[in-house]
Amino acid sequence: MAVTCKSQRELAAMRRAGAIVGLAHRMLRTWVKPGITTRELDTLVHQVITKHGGYPSFLGYGGPPPYPAATCISVNEELVHGIPSKRRLHAGDIVSIDIGVQIDGYHADSAWSYAVGEVSEEAAGLLRVTEETLYHALSVVRTGARLSDISWAIQSYAEARGYGVIRNYISHGIGRSLHEDPQILNYGPPGRGLVLQPGMTFAIEPMIVCGDPSTRELRDGWTVVTADGRLAAHYEHTVAVTTGEPEILTSQETSDEVL
Ligand code: MF3
Ligand code: CO
Repeated sequence: MAVTCKSQRELAAMRRAGAIVGLAHRMLRTWVKPGITTRELDTLVHQVITKHGGYPSFLGYGGPPPYPAATCISVNEELVHGIPSKRRLHAGDIVSIDIGVQIDGYHADSAWSYAVGEVSEEAAGLLRVTEETLYHALSVVRTGARLSDISWAIQSYAEARGYGVIRNYISHGIGRSLHEDPQILNYGPPGRGLVLQPGMTFAIEPMIVCGDPSTRELRDGWTVVTADGRLAAHYEHTVAVTTGEPEILTSQETSDEVL
């Protein structure tokens, strides 16, 4: 499928979807606490999505088995696609929460990693560098840049700081579908591939680890963990290419008027 440039009408729908995702993350800052279960967090996010007229993009996605929840919640060595459960969060955990919303036929997708109470220096450093890696990658999303400039921005930023970059999960185009072309590797040399044009929309999602970047999928058919059991973090924004600064559609600071 070809890479599409979204019209203003399509971008408006993605902005609405993104505003709901951003709002849910803003609320999670206070909801993520020692003692809460990942299923309770999933229910709270699902309620925010529905209250604002959205539908959770992940619910029923893919499979078999189809994804069973509104969010993916991945704790500690879990990297992505953790299924919400009766597991309780404890002080010292880190938790990555991935949220997709569909509204008026368009999607937005954003993951964020949270510290539960006080966390180790190792965990705090991983969260900080993974968030910085995301913003570094977003800074190159400009008209005229090449697709693999994003890949290189991610790899070079994280590896220069001593972290590992996951290879077998990638960033992607997004819009009418949750996953559309182009596929965007989170590693590789710059200056290759598609030339970015205004209206292209991407979900940029670096997944960064303290140890080796090999992964393993659990027998539930979804949860992905690091093979070495060390910590993983995941930050993702949905972004639109413009003629100037990239527009972050899943910003957590968007005013509620867009909702
Ligand atoms: N942000 C993830 C992705 O783009 C979330 C997908 S969860 C799924 O792959 F359930 F939809 F697969
Ligand atoms: Co995504």
